[in-house]
Amino acid sequence: MGNRRHLVSLSDVDDQELAELVRRGVAFANGGRTGKPLADKVLGVYFRKTSTRTRTAFSTAALRLGAGLVSYGPGDLQLNTGETVEDTGKVLSRMLDGLVLRTAGPTEELRELAAQESMSVVNAMSAHEHPTQALADLTTLSRHFGRIDGLRVLYVGEGNSTAVALALALTRFAGAQLHLRTPEGYGLDPEVLVAAKSYAAQSGGVIDEKHQMSDLPVGFDVVYTTRWQTTGSAKPDPDWRQAFEPFQVNAQVMASSPRAVFMHDLPAHRGEEVTAEVLDGPRSIAFDQAENKLHSAMAVLEWCVRG
Ligand code: CP
Repeated sequence: MGNRRHLVSLSDVDDQELAELVRRGVAFANGGRTGKPLADKVLGVYFRKTSTRTRTAFSTAALRLGAGLVSYGPGDLQLNTGETVEDTGKVLSRMLDGLVLRTAGPTEELRELAAQESMSVVNAMSAHEHPTQALADLTTLSRHFGRIDGLRVLYVGEGNSTAVALALALTRFAGAQLHLRTPEGYGLDPEVLVAAKSYAAQSGGVIDEKHQMSDLPVGFDVVYTTRWQTTGSAKPDPDWRQAFEPFQVNAQVMASSPRAVFMHDLPAHRGEEVTAEVLDGPRSIAFDQAENKLHSAMAVLEWCVRG
């Protein structure tokens, strides 16, 4: 089979494909099934880092779409004993129809694995980008608001892999606004900001980033945060908490946007990036967002593997 698509970065996906992935995620959420379109396919799910949502979402999505599943934990493949990424890709692509991979490393490894057309490669989070998270986020926005165009989103916290993906996705939608407030030294990758500004210029949207929480604009539709230690990884600066503390989403931040819903990619640390009052409060849609990881994973597998 030489017709597989890959999802390594959202920057590889055009506007129409992105909109279609979201539309299919919403359709799956609304109960749309098309039999077992992946009934003759086998997927590998290989997570080198911890995961509750993404691994379960893709495994469940594969099973619901009828695919068989091979699951690998961090210590399972001969990559650990020195086999090269190239050889691993050559072997797996002769057996699997798709590989969903979470790595602690750079996105380049996924690109190396994706240098063939018989096995789809899906980035389930690299150090740089978490594209399937943004697809779940857009599916959540579309389900909640009935649109993505014109929404105003405040993102508070580190410019991490979730923020990168959100910036590369939300800015494609007409008039959508993404205002990031990130601690100094923990901002969005400057190259991503340039790319997202280019998307926003074409869509009539806005993206900006500041490193303080004072003078926040008001009246957002969404306030979004992520945990301060992505995948539990320690930060080299022993004083990093001081930089992050002003960036907690609490009742005061939510009061400045009285109609906003609260989103969080989870897992959360109550009392750090968000107060329990906000995460567990009536304006939080964080657990709907987690569920939407399953629906959008089905859309991703359908798009990539079925082709
Ligand atoms: N949001 C997210 O990627 O969750 P997991 O790390 O549990 O997969």
